[in-house]
Amino acid sequence: MSDAAIEKPLFAADDWTIPQDWQRYSDAEHALWDRLFARQSAILPGRVAPAFLQGLDILRLSKPGIPDFAELNARLQTATGWTVVAVPGLVPDDVFFDHLANRRFVAGRFIRTPDQIDYIEQPDVFHDVFGHVPLLANPVFADYMQAWGRGAQRASSLGAIDRLARLYWYTVEFGLIRAGDTLQTYGAGIVSSHSETQFALADPSPHRIRFDLGRVMRTRYIIDDFQQVYFVIDSFEDLLRQTIETDFAPLYQSLATLPDLNVADILDTDRVVHRGTQAYASGRSGMK
Ligand SMILES: [Fe+2]
Repeated sequence: MSDAAIEKPLFAADDWTIPQDWQRYSDAEHALWDRLFARQSAILPGRVAPAFLQGLDILRLSKPGIPDFAELNARLQTATGWTVVAVPGLVPDDVFFDHLANRRFVAGRFIRTPDQIDYIEQPDVFHDVFGHVPLLANPVFADYMQAWGRGAQRASSLGAIDRLARLYWYTVEFGLIRAGDTLQTYGAGIVSSHSETQFALADPSPHRIRFDLGRVMRTRYIIDDFQQVYFVIDSFEDLLRQTIETDFAPLYQSLATLPDLNVADILDTDRVVHRGTQAYASGRSGMK
């Protein structure tokens, strides 16, 4: 979520959408997508929730390279009623929430440059589409995303959007999920990152803690480096159920009486899957 005032470019529509202009991508840009796609597709089996791999097929379109949103949307809309819309970059919170609440996912249309293959500050089309769209093809996760969008509209009116932003961060972007005795990932920030896919699941440094809604919404996060705490959900069904069944207004009120938590904190009440060594400690300046 960005609180900064962002100015809408003249070429964007009232809802901030712009044409994808698929035909304007260069061969090099398509090739970079294919390279990123191949690299992540190779590392993810066994490490990602099966629903993500099932949804990944929706990105295998008639042409290689960056997906043409028109063709992608015909398939995605049939699957779950979601569509992907291109935007010029970051959009204001209320615009973002309105799109999600109406089953539209906003995506950057630009792709990173080859020297940014491992790290990019602003989400590009690879992060937004490879990272997010496969799970939008999953009916349960699709409903969760819309429920979050509606909840964010309500949270905004209650002055609690920072709480719900943390829920998004620790689920949609950096979530882990139980898979028997092991963990898998499903968060877009992880699945679109070669290095964080390995870090999130295998590095001894970060904490891995069972998901607790109130606990998550008290926890700050790092925006420009690997996470130092990940939260583990039981299932998408459980995540959706908690989001729909919880009355957030009183929860926000009770959380307001408690201090925020830092990424390295562990509470007595936490159900800890893995107590991290916290050895990886760089880049904490972006904490929010
Ligand atoms: Fe994202």
